[in-house]
Amino acid sequence: MRFRTGCIALMSLILMPMAYINSTGTAKPMEKKAFGTTSDGKTADLYVLTNKNGMEVSITNYGGIVTSIKVPDRNGKIGDVALGYDTLDGYVTDKVYIGATVGRYCNRIGHGEFSIDGVKYTLAKNNGENTLHGGIKGFNKMLWEARDVSKDGEPALELRYTSKDMEEGFPGNLATTVVFTLTNRDELKIDYVATTDKKTVVNLTNHSYFNLAGPGSGDVLKTVLRIEADKLTPIDSGLIPTGELKNVRGTPFDFRKPTEIGARIDQDDEQLKLGRGYDHNFVLIKNKPNGLSLAALAEEPATGRVLEVWTTEPGIQLYTGNFLDGSIHGKGGVAYTKRGAFCLETQHFPDSPNHSNFPPTILRPGQRYHTTTIYKFSTK
Ligand code: BGC
Repeated sequence: MRFRTGCIALMSLILMPMAYINSTGTAKPMEKKAFGTTSDGKTADLYVLTNKNGMEVSITNYGGIVTSIKVPDRNGKIGDVALGYDTLDGYVTDKVYIGATVGRYCNRIGHGEFSIDGVKYTLAKNNGENTLHGGIKGFNKMLWEARDVSKDGEPALELRYTSKDMEEGFPGNLATTVVFTLTNRDELKIDYVATTDKKTVVNLTNHSYFNLAGPGSGDVLKTVLRIEADKLTPIDSGLIPTGELKNVRGTPFDFRKPTEIGARIDQDDEQLKLGRGYDHNFVLIKNKPNGLSLAALAEEPATGRVLEVWTTEPGIQLYTGNFLDGSIHGKGGVAYTKRGAFCLETQHFPDSPNHSNFPPTILRPGQRYHTTTIYKFSTK
């Protein structure tokens, strides 16, 4: 009898490709829940990924949005370290890209214009005269097709979206796949893949807002940050890169040694004034040109939570929630206030299509865009 029960248990594990084994030894599938209905009557789902250590990440196929990241502090107390909303509606009306997959081109394109082979493309402008995070209706407002691609005991969610030729003004049908894997090393690994049928530009990122002490626990100014960058791309008053690559030495942008985010944020510095704090692209020191390397490391002293960001990308945007003003109420009704979170958006540099000295963002038919970013959590 015991043998039969054992066989049945073993067989059901083999027959459960969507399942993984957690630390208590019980199998738990990636959970899928209805999240709400969009204005055009489509159902969005919420996928809850849990690894064997009990770390839990929730993602909706609306906008490819990471809605929560639950990790322990140094005493084992679980906390949600990502800003978000309780309902789909919060994400539908959101204007600050909380947790979103951002595309087709993250951050800004100056004057909403660029040229490829002498052909000028004019984009949807949604940030003054500029285009921000893909335009008026970016990838963060699209419903993605979802598939469970969990393997080797690690939950993984694949999201697919094809952006049509000339959507928001971008040329080419762009077939995009984003795979979110929650590894058993407490990493949220994001793989972005895209192909096109016409020359276009692509720059995809994730726009999670982190507060490692938990949203609603005050500002992030005491979080200690290290960024593996020796240069930044200074911006003008429209937050568009001037094209210069500026050495961080002797400036408030030198995070090569771990420094509190708030230590210099209010210094009398032209770049900080233009960004109302940090809202800048850092040029990463890449030991392996297109390989994965450590980009940033954030440590929250009170909880001991640590976030490492690894990426294949050449740049990272540090945004310190300067435009949050308390008017947005997120999960549990918490008001999201200025500097109540930070974003570390891995990317090619903003406005690259208009700067020939920046690493190119052009994608041609036959080429495959593939970038990887890892957000790894631990405690100290
Ligand atoms: C940008 C900010 C912008 C924010 C959108 C960041 O990536 O750099 O300027 O306000 O996204 O909410």
